[in-house]
Amino acid sequence: MTSTSIDHLHQHDGDTVTLQGWLFNKRASKGLQFLILRDGSGLCQCVASEEALGAASWQAAEAATQESALSITGVVRKDERQVGGYELQASSVELIALAEEYPITPKEHGIEFLMNHRHLWLRSRRQWAILRVRNRIIQTIHAFFQERGFIQMDAPILTGNAVEGTSTLFELDYFGDSAYLTQSGQLYGEAMAMAFGKIYTFGPTFRAEKSKTRRHLTEFWMIEPEMAFYDLAMNMDLAEAFLQRIAQDALEHCKDELAQLERTLPALEATAQGALPRLSYTEAVDLLRSDKTREMLDAREAARRAEQDALQQERDQNRAAYGQAKKHEKRRIDAREIEINARLADVEEELRNIPKWRASAAEFEWGNDFGGSDETVLTWHFDRPLIVHRYPAAVKAFYMKRDPDDDTLAMGMDVLAPEGYGEIIGGGERATDLGFLKKQVADHGLPEEAFDWYFDLRRYGSVPHAGFGLGLERTVTWVCGLPHLREAIPFPRMMGRLSP
Ligand code: 4AD
Ligand code: MG
Repeated sequence: MTSTSIDHLHQHDGDTVTLQGWLFNKRASKGLQFLILRDGSGLCQCVASEEALGAASWQAAEAATQESALSITGVVRKDERQVGGYELQASSVELIALAEEYPITPKEHGIEFLMNHRHLWLRSRRQWAILRVRNRIIQTIHAFFQERGFIQMDAPILTGNAVEGTSTLFELDYFGDSAYLTQSGQLYGEAMAMAFGKIYTFGPTFRAEKSKTRRHLTEFWMIEPEMAFYDLAMNMDLAEAFLQRIAQDALEHCKDELAQLERTLPALEATAQGALPRLSYTEAVDLLRSDKTREMLDAREAARRAEQDALQQERDQNRAAYGQAKKHEKRRIDAREIEINARLADVEEELRNIPKWRASAAEFEWGNDFGGSDETVLTWHFDRPLIVHRYPAAVKAFYMKRDPDDDTLAMGMDVLAPEGYGEIIGGGERATDLGFLKKQVADHGLPEEAFDWYFDLRRYGSVPHAGFGLGLERTVTWVCGLPHLREAIPFPRMMGRLSP
């Protein structure tokens, strides 16, 4: 008898094995208990029959409540109709721990309730799918850079200086001095790139963002490659290949997870082909203000209205049929009503937003930074991520190199994920000139002493270099097609959320 996990059952067809896990769900019929076991790797129906089991095993099967811990031994049988494709004919059921009444039931729960029970919510199928996609993306990130000769290096989390501006720092007391939680490992990444050529950091970063948007966490994970002797064009090429690989691997290795999430695939498939569109900031502004954007938004609005009508009609028909419906049909209608209402809420939100966004796009002034809604509108023009480069220097960080052809522009780039998601990557080519950087630090009101070590990188063999930062949670959110960042990390930290 072998212990195994549910994802390995295909290697044990016909064998007797032991599974250990938790009761996900169960159904009883005369003399039978159908126990759906969850072990973290998958779900498996275990059939416990009173006839085949000893008294103790049968009692355990009968007593087990949702999320009770169980050890079940039995014969593996291939069965396409069952969840996971295999079934266990139980010969023994052992109750390891009887669970109290589980707070998360199959009925609808509000998001606050679920967030307060995040430590248990992680056991749901949806969270299982999302966080496995996250794991795959992490694996891809390491493989991508390691295969290209990048060295993974860690930047400190406690720092003495700001990187991305001073407004979003978490300050703490460091033996009587001020210290900050890092906003970005970049400046350290630059030092490491001068020592090792091509590096990437992968660590937690912190922003005291007071905004409660679906795009902001206060603690998030960032991957920051930094490369000596790279210019902006090479940096964009790297970001393109990187996103291409993330999409390819997700499509290849996360089929079940994406299906579970009902993720539509065209945007991932287009990204997997590479060749990302590139627009300068100025071209992006022109596009935003153009008739093309107005017409695109008009068409989108019309499509959403049609969808809204169709959904409302379906809901009305379902409600009219409810009285006469059989029990299983009622269950289907109830489930569908939840789906329809959720989709309607999204559609209605978009219908409220489009008029505002159309006006804001038409009136957009060159020189401003794109707001979240401007990014969303831009992404609706493309089927895959969009790279925007050469921003007005005034809206970018102090360390950006200026465009040799236009000193008002910074050699920065943002990558905007399609389908309205917006920025997932920010980066660019770095300034190399010591005098320029010193002036930038002063102009940005940053303390020069704190940057003296950084200036050394320009004193001793300053070379062209570039890099970028990918936000892991924003990437997971987009790949999974989620409405909000909060499900893309096991324990999200946001304004107003520090527990569990
Ligand atoms: O654009 P940002 O601020 O760029 C930097 O920090 C650079 N120093 C990176 C570099 O060049 N090495 O942040 C990079 C990415 C964003 O594109 C976004 O994906 C993510 O980090 N990000 C956030 N993710 C979640 N919550 C927040 N509050 C985020 N702020 C930025
Ligand atoms: Mg940015």
